[in-house]
Amino acid sequence: NGSRMAAKKSEAKGLEGKAVEELDEAEAASELERLAAEIAEHDRRYYQEDAPTISDAEYDLLRVRNNTIEARFPKLVRADSPSLRVGAAPVGRFAKVKHRVPMLSIDNAFAEEDVAEFLNRVRRYLKLADEAVVPLMAEPKIDGLSLSIRYEKGTLTVAATRGDGYEGENVTANVRTIGDIPNELRGRPPEVAEIRGEVYMTHVDFAEMNRRIALEPGGRTIANPRNGAAGSLRQIDPEVTKARPLHFFAYAWGEMSTMPADTQSGMLEVLAGWGFKVNPRVRLVDSLDGALDYYRETGRERARLGYDIDGVVYKVNSLGLQQRLGFVSRTPRWATAHKFPAEQVETIIENIEIQVGRTGALTPVANLRPVTVGGVVVRNASLHNEDYIKGIGGGGEPIREGKDIRIGDTVVVQRAGDVIPQIIDVDLSRRSPEAEAYAFPTVCPVCGSHAVREVNPKTGRADAVRRCTGGLICAAQAVEQLRHFVSRNAFDIEGFGEKQIEAFHADGLVRSPADIFRLRLRRAELEEREGMGKVSVRNLLAAIEARRSIALNRFIYALGIRHIGETNAKLLARSYGTFEAFRAAMTDAVEVEGDAYRELRAVGGIGDVVAMALTAFFAEAHNQEALDELLKEVKVEPAEVVNNEGSPVAGKTVVFTGSLEKMTREEAKTMAERLGAKVAGSVSKKTDLVVAGPGAGSKLKQAEELGIQVIDEDGWLTLVDGK
Ligand code: IVH
Repeated sequence: NGSRMAAKKSEAKGLEGKAVEELDEAEAASELERLAAEIAEHDRRYYQEDAPTISDAEYDLLRVRNNTIEARFPKLVRADSPSLRVGAAPVGRFAKVKHRVPMLSIDNAFAEEDVAEFLNRVRRYLKLADEAVVPLMAEPKIDGLSLSIRYEKGTLTVAATRGDGYEGENVTANVRTIGDIPNELRGRPPEVAEIRGEVYMTHVDFAEMNRRIALEPGGRTIANPRNGAAGSLRQIDPEVTKARPLHFFAYAWGEMSTMPADTQSGMLEVLAGWGFKVNPRVRLVDSLDGALDYYRETGRERARLGYDIDGVVYKVNSLGLQQRLGFVSRTPRWATAHKFPAEQVETIIENIEIQVGRTGALTPVANLRPVTVGGVVVRNASLHNEDYIKGIGGGGEPIREGKDIRIGDTVVVQRAGDVIPQIIDVDLSRRSPEAEAYAFPTVCPVCGSHAVREVNPKTGRADAVRRCTGGLICAAQAVEQLRHFVSRNAFDIEGFGEKQIEAFHADGLVRSPADIFRLRLRRAELEEREGMGKVSVRNLLAAIEARRSIALNRFIYALGIRHIGETNAKLLARSYGTFEAFRAAMTDAVEVEGDAYRELRAVGGIGDVVAMALTAFFAEAHNQEALDELLKEVKVEPAEVVNNEGSPVAGKTVVFTGSLEKMTREEAKTMAERLGAKVAGSVSKKTDLVVAGPGAGSKLKQAEELGIQVIDEDGWLTLVDGK
């Protein structure tokens, strides 16, 4: 997955938090790559799945960062830049419609200064005096989804969603069921008229729809009215759309064979005359102060409107001036959206609940006394992790820095856009004297195994996430663990897919790895299952039987112990030889001061984090029991132990620097580790040997200063020759 990789790369470089002014060109390019991928992913979630995972405010920040970097490095603008694209490409189900006039987006203003800057830019561009009056149409910014409806000779012909701005989905049949949208225009409309505006759902209708969904078996309620509107409009069956109460405000247009007015306000009147609903709260203003007054008033009325708005839009009223102003990188110079800050509401934390994810992470969730925030009833808020609850970082808002969260607390909740709300402040003056600091569980609420936080030995800091160590037996992790267990580089059981694992787990057929090998005792039951038959059962059981004996490194890898990938599993297999020896050593290694732990650490490539993960796994009685069961079923073949005696670099710390010509860095590293050396990234007093190629710089200098032995690539190859 390219986008995830790009995101990882930038993250690894720690660029995400770096100020745009401080980025050099290479860093800027890498940030733009990450942002393009990330924004595309969020667009997809928002437009195609109606399931955004970040708030609008966070999303806007990503776009702002992207645009700021592009403004500094115009050469670096990518072909897939989010600034050249609005929204996401449409999904497949509906026929596509090309917009003859693209459906573009508008720039966002967050602060009053941004609005002032917008007005000044308009004046500058039009070469008007600083105090020249530029009448603006101010309108509420409806938080729904935009729609373009084409009328020919006054009759509705096609209606399309925005899609990516250039091509949307044909939702004509569904649009015909919306009461606010006329099938025939009144009056004398031009030959061709494309009307644009926003489809939305009211708070009351949204709540009613969710109430009904909740009554359906397996019904999944919808997060907010915007998603409700988007989902309803994109139903395959127009009858379903008809049953969903959708509304529409007209505020713009696309192709127009003749223009019936020459101002935005005039156009709104015309649209109303043709039979459309036009928002009654629009207002002509003629100064910055007028615009800001409108913004503040609209903000105060927001909660009483009965539908979601996320800001106001200012548009230069004269269409003649709009024409002159034109567009810059796909947004009009003549309009800007002044966004509202996220809405904040007070409520009480009734309980803190711990959810266990598929990888064993314990995530705390606050159960709130239900409150309405921007028309949506909020019942839960994510608390992220232990430190967040304690108010010591972990994503805690600066506003509550140092204030912990307790059950019974009065808190300020913010629903920024569509996502799960955040707790941004705690009212300590209303805390009950009896309220106790929240004690984060140290055992997994699902399986009772210990839950631990890894400590980074370099920084001494604990990982933010507490994880369940009961990998093999924890029901919350079971499906993920089993999927890993049968995967290609582990037990490699052919034809045992994720869907099947999920179904078998749900029906109690396979709860632990050992159960897989007991499936043969349930042949009749398997053959009865839907979608299975004698042949597929025979194939599956044969694939399982073929794996009753397994190489040690694969077996270790299959256990799904945190940090034990294939490389570490191989290292361990080569060092301990048999599973019995490995298991005994890991069980002994719980004692960090003891020999077993020291030996484990001496295995090249095994650091403290990995060592701790291993000992935590084996210290868990549940895992030991699961292993006993599994070993009744499978035979683990011993591995060839690599003897590092005679290796000239066993136990030594080696640093490679400069370029290598006869092998890659990776090869060199693997070779050194195979011979029992530890490969380090930087030179220190602990370094025993530096292998320096051409172009070696500071590391070579340091080695010389510290009097460490330095050899070149050929010297290295001679040293390890034939070993
Ligand atoms: S004008 C070329 N007016 O906000 C600009 N847009 O980012 C045409 N929206 O895609 C849009 N209320 O979905 C305009 N009164 C309003 C609006 C509005 C909501 C949405 C619309 C548009 C987005 C702008």
